Amino acid sequence: MFHAPIVPRVRKRSRPAEAGVARHEAVKFEDVRLYLVERKMGSSRRSFLTQLARTKGFIVDDILRLEKSMPFCCSLTEQGCSTPTPVARVSQYACQRRTTTENNNKILTDAFEVLAESYELNQLEGPCLAFRRAASVLKSLPWAVQCLGATQGLPCLGEHTKALIEEILQYGHSFEVEKILSDERYQTLKLFTSVFGVGPKTAEKWYRRGLRSFSDILAEPSIQLNRMQQSGFLHYGDISRAVSKAEARALGNIIDEAVHAITPDGILALTGGFRRGKEFGHDVDFIVTTPEQGKEETLLPNIIDRLKEQGILLYSDYQTSTFDISKLPSHKFEAMDHFAKCFLILRLEGSLVDRGLNSTEGDSRGWRAVRVDLVSPPMERYAYALLGWTGSRQFERDLRRFARLEQHMLLDNHALYDKTKKEFLAATTERDIFAHLGLEYIEPWQRNA
Ligand code: CTP
Ligand code: MN
Ligand code: MN
Repeated sequence: MFHAPIVPRVRKRSRPAEAGVARHEAVKFEDVRLYLVERKMGSSRRSFLTQLARTKGFIVDDILRLEKSMPFCCSLTEQGCSTPTPVARVSQYACQRRTTTENNNKILTDAFEVLAESYELNQLEGPCLAFRRAASVLKSLPWAVQCLGATQGLPCLGEHTKALIEEILQYGHSFEVEKILSDERYQTLKLFTSVFGVGPKTAEKWYRRGLRSFSDILAEPSIQLNRMQQSGFLHYGDISRAVSKAEARALGNIIDEAVHAITPDGILALTGGFRRGKEFGHDVDFIVTTPEQGKEETLLPNIIDRLKEQGILLYSDYQTSTFDISKLPSHKFEAMDHFAKCFLILRLEGSLVDRGLNSTEGDSRGWRAVRVDLVSPPMERYAYALLGWTGSRQFERDLRRFARLEQHMLLDNHALYDKTKKEFLAATTERDIFAHLGLEYIEPWQRNA
């Protein structure tokens, strides 16, 4: 798509512009096809504009062809900027969009995410969510936004986001974003929350006490780090580095072996970002369960014991199940689920990883620490747990929001409740859940909202 003013302002002309004169002009823009779709355009105006575009080296088609790569068609306005007309409506709900890991608008979405992060660190949920939603919409587009006009008709883009888009398209960056990135408070809070076990509230507390670096924190005698934070600092270098797909696979083998040594009919499924096809993640997420009812309760403690015996358990936070079907449906939005789960740090040997570890240069240890999450729902809750843990977070939020606002239903990681029929809807697969919600099925790799 173009956005340069290739067509100058058209003034009323007394002489019809060379209508019907077929001249051969040199084509300069092979990949661009123009079609004039201005509704109120007379034939003389049309032929004038057609001729003008051709003299500039553009190819002008007489018949409109919509190609896959061009979901918007551009009409030439008198300002010369292209005003796109949406061909397919983009839903305000991420669960009605297909979002792969390919992001055509990374410059814009990165900027939005800095703002979202900044609001989140300041505990301003509303504006944070607004920027996350805007970023999510742009991530779903199969084309790159090249002019503000192209965002016309897209949902979730407010005045602030539009001003940012305009600024970034014009200057290549945003002054507001640059200001946040160079802000000491933002940088410090980002640094502190990058430690496993440190959330925005703790980070804020430390910042207010004048602490600015890890050494400040570690040297401060009055600070009592909890066990999670101690492990976070101890393994900081390793767990702040991305986990590769090959490393995730190697961990999958380790967990698989543990599950099947404990129970031959155990079930293991990869979930989280890697199930969505991501190349890298901050951790690896698995669901483990068994068809034997009640046995899933002892599965995690047994797996943890086994990992300990193998000498690869560096940290474990096990949370026993608080799942109680009689307490459903839960009206708590964004609440943690009640399944048995554990947050682990495991020691992964490089020899187990296809083509080796994702380690920094000069690291000769031959192993690295990796964050692993395991969740263990009862088998009849499997589909809901899988859907809930596959993410992305934005996709999950919108599944719930869609259920609530559009279908009068309540969805969480445990169940789907129909408020009209006053009943729970059973599901054995993710497809069942999408069908209950009246949604087209979205594949895991299309849920990177
Ligand atoms: N999740 C959850 N309950 C938790 C923790 C996580 O329901 N207690 C869900 C989140 O909603 C998310 C998914 O599990 O959709 C995976 O969480 P996480 O590992 O944090 O994110 P990923 O999408 O896997 O991203 P990354 O690759 O960075 O790990
Ligand atoms: Mn994950
Ligand atoms: Mn996780």
